[in-house]
Amino acid sequence: MAERDQELRQAAAAEIDKYKEEVESDPYRLLFHHMPPVGLLNDPNGFVQWKGTYHLFYQWMPFDTGHGAKFWGHYTSKDFVNWVHEDIALTPSDWYDKNGVYSGSAVSHNDRLYLFYTGNVKDEEGNREAYQCLAVSDDGVNFEKQGVIAELPEGYTAHFRDPKVWKNGEHWYMVIGAQSKDLQGKAVLFQSENLYDWKHLGPVTGSLENNLDEFGFMWECPDIFELGDQDILMVSPQGLEEEGMNYANTYQSGYFAGKLNYEKPKLEHGSFHELDRGFEFYAPQTTLDEQGRRILIGWMGVPDQYEQAHPTVEKQWVHCLTLPRELTWNGEQIIQKPVNELKEMRGPALIHASITIENDQKAVRGIGGRATELNLEFEQIEDQFAVELFQYAAISYKDGILTLSRPHLENREKTEFRRVELPQGLRNLHLFIDQSALEIFVNNGEEVFTSRIFPQPEEEDILFTSLGESSFSIEQWKLSGFTFS
Ligand code: FRU
Repeated sequence: MAERDQELRQAAAAEIDKYKEEVESDPYRLLFHHMPPVGLLNDPNGFVQWKGTYHLFYQWMPFDTGHGAKFWGHYTSKDFVNWVHEDIALTPSDWYDKNGVYSGSAVSHNDRLYLFYTGNVKDEEGNREAYQCLAVSDDGVNFEKQGVIAELPEGYTAHFRDPKVWKNGEHWYMVIGAQSKDLQGKAVLFQSENLYDWKHLGPVTGSLENNLDEFGFMWECPDIFELGDQDILMVSPQGLEEEGMNYANTYQSGYFAGKLNYEKPKLEHGSFHELDRGFEFYAPQTTLDEQGRRILIGWMGVPDQYEQAHPTVEKQWVHCLTLPRELTWNGEQIIQKPVNELKEMRGPALIHASITIENDQKAVRGIGGRATELNLEFEQIEDQFAVELFQYAAISYKDGILTLSRPHLENREKTEFRRVELPQGLRNLHLFIDQSALEIFVNNGEEVFTSRIFPQPEEEDILFTSLGESSFSIEQWKLSGFTFS
C-alpha cells in the first residue's frame, strides 16, 4: 500500500531527526561498524554484490530500542570502507508484512535485484502468520513488492521465516528456518524455476532429523553454501542447553558441514560448530562476491540477551553489525578473517615491536586508543598471559583456554566470561576495537570472539600481563573508520 508506505517512511525520518543529536553525542557510537540511525538494528539481510556494488540491508525498528514491526534499512559500498546509507528499502506497509518485514536474502538475476523476506503478521491475541515474500528492483534503490510467493507447508508452526535463496545448476533454491508442529527446529528447502513459483521439498536437516538428537525448538536464519569441498548449513538454533564452554549465550549461531543431496533433499553432516565465542553474535548471513569470496556479516547482538541493559539505549539506539569476514575451509573447519579491504582504514603503524614480559604488567608506550587494530604474534607463553582493555574487558590465556571477561551488562558488580579451548595453544590475537565494539580473531581466524564493551569513555589504555615469561610481537594501527554518506 503506497500510502501506508509513505506514512511509515515519513514517521521513520521524523524519528531520525528527533534523536539525531542524541545518537551523535553518544561516546559509544561506532566509527567502523554499521549501527542504526536511531532505534534497534538486528540481523543483516539481503547481503549481495550487485553490478559491482555491495548491498547490505538490516532489520531495523526505527521507533523503539526494542523489537517490533521491522523495516529493511539499506547500506551500499564498493569497497567495504566507504558506505552510502541509502533510503529505506522496505517498510511493513502491506497486509502480509504489517507486523514486520522480517529477515531474508537477495539475488541478482537478469539485471534485476530480487529481495526475499518473511512477512510477519500478528493479530490482537498474538497469533502469528508468516508469508514468504518477494520485492524486485531495477536500480538497486527502489524496491517494488511482488507479494507472497510461498505459503506455510503442512506440519509447521508459523515460526517459518528468513528465506535464503541461491542457484544450483538449473534451479533456484530457498532454505527457510522453521519449527515443526512438535516444536523442533528445522531447515526447510524449496525449489523454483523462475523465482516466483516455489515448490516445497522438505527439511534438509533439523532437530530429530538425520543423525541429530533434540537440537533446539526453532532454527532461525539458515544459509546454505559451498565452501572448499563442503556444503555448509549455517544456522541460528534456539533452545540449546549450555554445555561446558559451548552455547553460553541465550541463542547461538554455527554450522554443519557435509554434502547436500538436492534430490532427497538431505544434508548428510557432522556435528554443529559454534561460529563465535563472544557475548554478542547472532543471525549471520553470507554472500558469494564477484571475486568468488564467501563473505559473512553477523549481527553483534543476541535476541533477549539483556538488550535493554546496553548503555546506548539511553541515547536511543542499540546494536550493530560485525565487520565483513572472508570464510575459507581449512579441511576441518571454517576460518574467518576480516576482509582485506579493511586495511585501507589503517593509518601509519603506531608501533611495531617485539616484547618480552616476565612476571609483570606492562603498558607498552603508544598502545591504546578506541579505534584501533592490534595484531599480536606469540613466540612463547610460559604460564599465563592477559590483555586488559581500558580497565574493562580482559582477554586471558592459561592452560590451553582463552577467556574473555567483562563486567556483567546487567550487574556491573559481577564478571561474566566466555571461553574456548585452543588445543594448539595461542599463536595469534588480532583485535579490532571500535569505541564499544570488539572483534577478536584468534589463531588467524580459527576462533572469533565478538562482543560489545562499555568502558568509561576516557579510558584508553591497553595493558599486558604475564605470569612467567611471554614473548610476542605487536603491530598496531590507528583506524580512520568508515566513511558514511
Ligand atoms: C533473528 C530474527 C529472525 C527474524 C528477525 C526479526 O534475530 O528473529 O528470525 O526474521 O530476527 O527481526
